[in-house]
Amino acid sequence: MSKKETPLFPLRKGLHARQAHVDLPAGTFEEEHARQGFFGRTTHLYRLHPVTDWTRIEGPLRPHSYDLNPLADSADAKVKASMFGSTETAFAPICILHNGDVALHWVAPAAMDFFYRNADGDDVYYIHAGGGKLETTFGALVYATGDYLVIPRGTTYRFLPGEGPQRYLLIESFSEVTIPDRNQLGPNAIFDPAMVDTPELEPYEMNPKGGPREWAVHIKRESQITKVFYPFNPLDVVGWKGDLTVWRINVKDIRPVLSARYHLPPSAHSTFIANNFVICSFLPRPFEEEEGAMRVPFYHSNIDYDEVLFYSAGHFFSRDGIGAGMMTWHPQGIHHGPHPKAIPLSRTKERTDEVAVMVDAFRPLRATPAAELMENLNYWASWK
Ligand SMILES: [Fe+2]
Repeated sequence: MSKKETPLFPLRKGLHARQAHVDLPAGTFEEEHARQGFFGRTTHLYRLHPVTDWTRIEGPLRPHSYDLNPLADSADAKVKASMFGSTETAFAPICILHNGDVALHWVAPAAMDFFYRNADGDDVYYIHAGGGKLETTFGALVYATGDYLVIPRGTTYRFLPGEGPQRYLLIESFSEVTIPDRNQLGPNAIFDPAMVDTPELEPYEMNPKGGPREWAVHIKRESQITKVFYPFNPLDVVGWKGDLTVWRINVKDIRPVLSARYHLPPSAHSTFIANNFVICSFLPRPFEEEEGAMRVPFYHSNIDYDEVLFYSAGHFFSRDGIGAGMMTWHPQGIHHGPHPKAIPLSRTKERTDEVAVMVDAFRPLRATPAAELMENLNYWASWK
């Protein structure tokens, strides 16, 4: 059934709220049982217990949490965990979770003396910490913490980071990444396209660091690296025209959609879409004002999507024990929702200052051995 065929008047049994997420029956906990993320047919279940109040779990299906902070600290670990067995510590993405549509990597680049080209997919970087200069086929772009960098498949590029730790979340998409329709919000909502920056061409320097040298381009195709060498700097584009390029938007320039009276679903915070997954940004915003309106995410079992959240900055009010640089993965079929303290805590606060990136993947994800090394094995018990 498509969204248009959804009946206006759903069936109603027993105790229930007529408006989802508002004025729940006293003593109940609301769970959303819904298809197609938050777009399809939906039933709200009013339960007497939080559905995450399990005593134990047997079997492989469980919520996961990873602390990525230490993962990129040692050059040796970086190379060993790198997705393509790279011997180049300057750019050695560490894959955490992946499926046939999307792969999530943790990257701690240093200044690269070679170029990289991904022939497998588009690369979307979220700059969790650091910044610098990105050199690309289309020109150069200065980037900073909080930026998303969208790099279309086949673009040749390299990072020249500045001072300080560099920690980037790389969301590799095996289909073209685009932005969602704004529909009735209009073309300037969420972020104005005019806030987007694109690379600027710089004067061509054949050998920016001095004498003649050989330049390498490391091309990834089917997760294997091929190195192509040139006797000149291969970023020799002196002009271009078209609508396919690298682009940058900072999360500070994304203006979340709000409702004072209704807890909007995560889909309202979609920033990018691609085949079978979506990237959402949860950004600082005031909480719902109306007394009966829920302020925390409702419980749900994500029937159709694996949900990954990367926590970047601020206070993650709905999750206990989660800090910046951590990632949670809630696979399809097992519930998740706010931690017990979050519901009363949200009533005492006016706004959230969290910055988090969510990836909702339609097909099940797999964790890599590198991720398993960083896993908090007791996360499943954290709702107690
Ligand atoms: Fe969720």
